[in-house]
Amino acid sequence: MDVFKVSGNGPLNGEIKVGGAKNAALPILAATLLTDETVVLKNVPDLSDMRFMIEILQHVGAETVQPEPGTWEITAKEITHIAPYELVRKMRASVCLLGPLVARMRKAEVSIPGGCVIGPRPIDLHIKGLQKLNCQVDIANGYVHVDASEIKGGPIFLGGRSGSTVTGTANIVMAAVLAPGSTRLECAACEPEVVDLCNLLVKMGAQIDGIGSPELTITGVDKLHGCEHSVIADRIEAGTFVIAAAITRGDVTVKGIAPKLLSAFLDKLEEAGLPMELGDDTIRVLPYEGSLKPVDVITLPHPGYPTDLQAQLGALMTQTDGISIITERIYPNRFMHVPELQRMGANIAMEGPSAIIKGASKLSGAPVMASDLRASAALILAAFAATGDTWIQRIYHLDRGYERFEQKLTGIGAKIERLHEREMPKELLEE
Ligand code: EPU
Repeated sequence: MDVFKVSGNGPLNGEIKVGGAKNAALPILAATLLTDETVVLKNVPDLSDMRFMIEILQHVGAETVQPEPGTWEITAKEITHIAPYELVRKMRASVCLLGPLVARMRKAEVSIPGGCVIGPRPIDLHIKGLQKLNCQVDIANGYVHVDASEIKGGPIFLGGRSGSTVTGTANIVMAAVLAPGSTRLECAACEPEVVDLCNLLVKMGAQIDGIGSPELTITGVDKLHGCEHSVIADRIEAGTFVIAAAITRGDVTVKGIAPKLLSAFLDKLEEAGLPMELGDDTIRVLPYEGSLKPVDVITLPHPGYPTDLQAQLGALMTQTDGISIITERIYPNRFMHVPELQRMGANIAMEGPSAIIKGASKLSGAPVMASDLRASAALILAAFAATGDTWIQRIYHLDRGYERFEQKLTGIGAKIERLHEREMPKELLEE
């Protein structure tokens, strides 16, 4: 297994480019199953999660061609309706095959994804939405079995305990675009990644009104066709780079991201006193004297503060003067990075779903364990502000969602080396 050796190397400086959004590309890849014509997708990030999704598409019968890096041509002429456990277990997001299979095949058998370290990831709302579309849904032997022979549009309220669901909305929209009649979807997720999926579906011939709002009206059509689509930029990758610049007091321009996709995040950083210049598709972070101010933030569905930038903000707040409170409302257990940050010298107390961070900690390098994608990023960011070397194990989590992370950050002056575990000093390896 690979590990990262990260050494604090002072301020980061220069330009860094954002890639395509993982969480948009995954349901968009699944959406290619909705037509037997070729869909050409551009700006698809090169990540292990994409490779899992391509593998599943191939398994159900799609032809996939990669004419150049970042571009995929997918033709799903004849497909089956079964997504087996061996493939689905590798990635939770494969649940978003449910919608396209139901729409196209009028039946689906998709293995229920397993648990996840950031907390329970139920699919009850996906099931409820399908039932409201007049589908018969049964759970047996670890699979969701859907009989959609009588599928038809109708009113659906898709809200759950924590509000809207991102992949749940994706699934129900994809199921509804080929269902007879009209579907009014209330409490739909408004995340930019859902908007990007809807925009692709419209290019494929779907009729969707209210895109970007919590109320979508979908009028079913008989058939969808091929098209070309470029995946939107990854706002979470962009936010992670902004924090990398802030935590090192660097001068960094993050390119290829519309700041309006990150309003809640940028608003918090502005409140913290981080000097920034926002362009149409750039965010420049400027160096600052003294300390940033602490923040009090609660993660919420879009347009609220994104849970996927919670851990990274926590890393930054270990360095500000004062006490920050970071409350996680989407995945209350998403604090696996906290004990690792504590090992580096951070002063953080947990109080229910809130991390209370006493800032201005002197961090020092330590061997730490990545537990999930965003936790991995938070540990690397903390390592930039630490003295000495930080060794980060289980970085395969990071490779699921950050494309060429270490190359991109090395390009603006970071010191990150990808090494094999056996190159770690023996005394630092876990038992
Ligand atoms: N929920 C239910 N029932 C459901 C579905 C969700 O109660 O049927 C709850 C969840 O437990 C959670 C909340 O609703 O508390 C929101 O979950 P959501 O369904 O929106 O999450 P998701 O679609 O499974 C996507 C991203 C996550 C991101 C969340 C929230 C993808 C592939 N994943 O997950 O991304 O954290 O939305 O924005 O789009 C990541 O990239 O690191 C990541 C975990």
